[in-house]
Amino acid sequence: MIEVSGLFKRYGPVEAVRGIDLSVHAGECFGLIGPNGAGKTTTLKSMATLVKPDRGRVTVDSLDAALESRKVRKVVGYMPDIFQSYGDLKVIHYLDYYAALVGLERAARVRQVEEVLELVDLQPKRDALVGGLSRGVKQRLCLAKTLLHDPKVLLLDEPASGLDPRARIEIRLLLKVLRAEMGKTIVISSHILEDLEEICDRVAVIEAGQCVAIGRVADLKDQARRQVRYVLEPYAPPAEVATQLGAEVALVESVEVDGRFVHITPSAGTDDEQALLRRILDLGIRMRSFSEEAPDLHEVFLELTSGQVS
Ligand SMILES: Nc1ncnc2c1ncn2[C@@H]1O[C@H](COP(=O)(O)OP(=O)(O)O)[C@@H](O)[C@H]1O
Ligand SMILES: [Mg+2]
Repeated sequence: MIEVSGLFKRYGPVEAVRGIDLSVHAGECFGLIGPNGAGKTTTLKSMATLVKPDRGRVTVDSLDAALESRKVRKVVGYMPDIFQSYGDLKVIHYLDYYAALVGLERAARVRQVEEVLELVDLQPKRDALVGGLSRGVKQRLCLAKTLLHDPKVLLLDEPASGLDPRARIEIRLLLKVLRAEMGKTIVISSHILEDLEEICDRVAVIEAGQCVAIGRVADLKDQARRQVRYVLEPYAPPAEVATQLGAEVALVESVEVDGRFVHITPSAGTDDEQALLRRILDLGIRMRSFSEEAPDLHEVFLELTSGQVS
């Protein structure tokens, strides 16, 4: 549905995007993850025909975004990262206004506005003033606006940013519905991996204008997984247990105390969970729990991006 190849974009001296290649399949939910300034917005805008690449090519539904921008705009709905509107407009008038802008005639407009209002569950707010809405409701309204011309592709720039946990979940559910029931292809950006992990089939990790990794979140986690670690929750004081285990140089590379827990890094080449566990039991260490440590999403992210921006 979307092909980005060799995308390059500079703003004056800033190379915002430096050679990004990626493709998004029809019906897929695809995430762009990366720190601020990485080039996510520029990449999304190039898909939305709002940024003209210096080099490279973007096609959407087999249409060239630079050469056939009018046609591409019918296919995509772009939701920017900032919400702008006249505050003293009612929700219903706001949507009607944009429905007119996308060229809907009166009858179709009323129908379509009702449809999107229902979709994002905003009927109760139809007569509320836009300026007084909470950020979460504004984001849903903005999404509704994006849906007015029934685009196949949704390009959503940080739709969950600045939302409270509940509003975040609502947006996530909404995107699931749009994808599963309406067959939309979705590209969504965020600098928070948790926002994307649950809804995206695949993500591209963008850093300093380049794509440093691309794939399923689970595969990226495996890829980024460093040496296996174990975490032990002893009954005895963790510091004592750490000292005890630290002496087991044949099996244990290092130990680290963190609150009630002792983190164990096994010696290189001797990652034998059974042997380690047996030794712990032989030492008479009693424990509430013992498990392999799953890599933390933030660690994965930090592993994949060295933290520098362009
Ligand atoms: N219109 C612009 N003029 C100048 N610099 C820009 C403009 N838009 C973006 N940039 C710069 O390009 C880089 C990438 O920005 P952006 O694509 O917005 O990244 P992200 O969305 O990942 O935060 C940043 O360094 C940003 O400051
Ligand atoms: Mg951005």
